[in-house]
Amino acid sequence: MPHKQHTYNKIRESLIKMMVSQSLIPIAILALAIIFSVNAYDPSPLQDFCVAIDDLNGVFVNGRFCKDPVQVNAEDFFFSGLNVPGNTDNQVGSNVTTVNVDQIPGLNTMGISLVRIDYAPYGQNPPHTHPRGSEILVLVKGTLYVGFVSSNQDNNRLFAKVLQPGDVFVFPIGMIHFQVNVGRVPAVAFAGLSSQNAGVITIANAVFGSNPPINPEVLARAFQLDPYIVKELQARFGP
Ligand SMILES: *[C@@H]1O[C@H](CO)[C@@H](O)[C@H](O)[C@H]1NC(C)=O
Repeated sequence: MPHKQHTYNKIRESLIKMMVSQSLIPIAILALAIIFSVNAYDPSPLQDFCVAIDDLNGVFVNGRFCKDPVQVNAEDFFFSGLNVPGNTDNQVGSNVTTVNVDQIPGLNTMGISLVRIDYAPYGQNPPHTHPRGSEILVLVKGTLYVGFVSSNQDNNRLFAKVLQPGDVFVFPIGMIHFQVNVGRVPAVAFAGLSSQNAGVITIANAVFGSNPPINPEVLARAFQLDPYIVKELQARFGP
C-alpha cells in the first residue's frame, strides 16, 4: 500500500514538525503511540530471535519480553506431541491442538504458528475467525467440507470445497470459516497461521455466550429470531 504508507509518512512529518515547533511533549508521546500502533502487526524481528520470557514486573508491550540471547537454547524452539490426536468427544466433534508462542517461546515476533485439528466422524470445527492471522490448511486424513465467507463488501460470498488427503485450502485473515468431516472415519488436518498467536473467535460462543450476555432483544432483532429462542441459545452457550 504505497499510497497509505505515503499518507502515514506525511502525518508523521507534520506531527514531528508540530512537536519541534511547540515542544508539546505529552502530545508528542500520544502521537508517537498512534504512529506506532498503526504499524503494530507481528512485526519483522529486529534480531535473530526474541525468545519470549515472562517478566511479571514489566509492562505488557504488544508482545513479550525477550530472553537474554545467551540463555536461549534449542528447547526454546521445540515442541513435541503433535502426533497425538486431540480428544474429539465434545459437542462439536473436533479438537484443535495449538502450537503458538505459548507453547514455543521462540515463536515470539516470528509471525507464524501451527495447529493440529482432529475431527470425529461427521464432527466439525464450527464457524470462527482468526483476528490476527491467515490460515493455510493441509488435510492428511479423511474428507473435509471446508469454506469461508467473504466480507459484506464482497457480498458475503461462500468459498467452499471438499478436500481429500493432500489437498490444501486457505482461509484469509478475519474471514469466518469452518471445516466439517463428511466421512465415516476420523479426519486429521494441520494448519499454519500467519501470527505467533492468531486468536480465535468462535461465532456461536462470542455472540450467544458472551460474559455478561448481550441483551436478548438485541440478538432477536439482529438474527430475526424469537427472543425465546435467543434465550435458549444463550443458556446453551452462556458462561
Ligand atoms: C482436546 O484434547 C485434549 C487432549 O486430549 C483435551 O485435554 C481437551 O480437553 C480437548 N478439548 C476439547 C475442547 O475437547
